Amino acid sequence: MPADEIKTKRLRLRRLTTADTERIAELGGDWDVASMTSRMPYPYTLDAAKQWIDHLDADEKVFGIEHDGELIGVTGYHGDPSANSAEVGYWIGKPYWGNGFATEAASAVIEYIFRNKIAQTITCGHFDDNPASARVIEKLGFEKTGSQQWWCEARRIEHLAIRYQLNKPEGFWRKLVGIASAN
Ligand SMILES: CC(C)(COP(=O)(O)OP(=O)(O)OC[C@H]1O[C@@H](n2cnc3c(N)ncnc32)[C@H](O)[C@@H]1OP(=O)(O)O)[C@@H](O)C(=O)NCCC(=O)NCCS
Repeated sequence: MPADEIKTKRLRLRRLTTADTERIAELGGDWDVASMTSRMPYPYTLDAAKQWIDHLDADEKVFGIEHDGELIGVTGYHGDPSANSAEVGYWIGKPYWGNGFATEAASAVIEYIFRNKIAQTITCGHFDDNPASARVIEKLGFEKTGSQQWWCEARRIEHLAIRYQLNKPEGFWRKLVGIASAN
């Protein structure tokens, strides 16, 4: 059974509980965060945050990202076992942007997926007006596969998203050293 917790150099990725509801609604309720994700509503009410934490899909694994004992964001994946693939996602609360946290957390999730043989291919994407996420995805080594309209719950419209994939590369373990060291 894969672990529920991952430690990296600076972060602890752990299971979310209802005690995180307020923090998720507060950080995720920022327009600059919610509008760049596909599924976060805006405004993000406490009830919406609690519903989300309580009703995660069976193929979905979500980790709260903790730094110095504080929840600063969320990452995880949604598996598609029939395609042997998993879609990775992440967001970081605005006060914590620009410290390499998204890259460190997502890189640990990627390692977790490959190490636990959850999927052979990892997919992800960003809306075309999100250069910061484009840069995170580039740093993680993904390759562009195309673009498509993708639903954005906060904006309540379909918006152009750039799509990527990552196949487990040769020397994967060596390449990840230095980005994150999961336990
Ligand atoms: C995208 C996001 C996760 C990045 O989090 P982060 O912890 O700041 O990311 P990192 O620090 O690991 O890396 C960010 C990179 O983007 C770069 N960047 C930031 N803003 C940028 C911009 N406007 N244009 C180009 N690059 C930018 C940073 O310089 C950094 O690259 P570098 O390490 O080469 O300097 C965060 O901004 C966020 O949560 N945004 C809202 C939600 C979201 O977009 N989620 C992802 C959905 S696809």
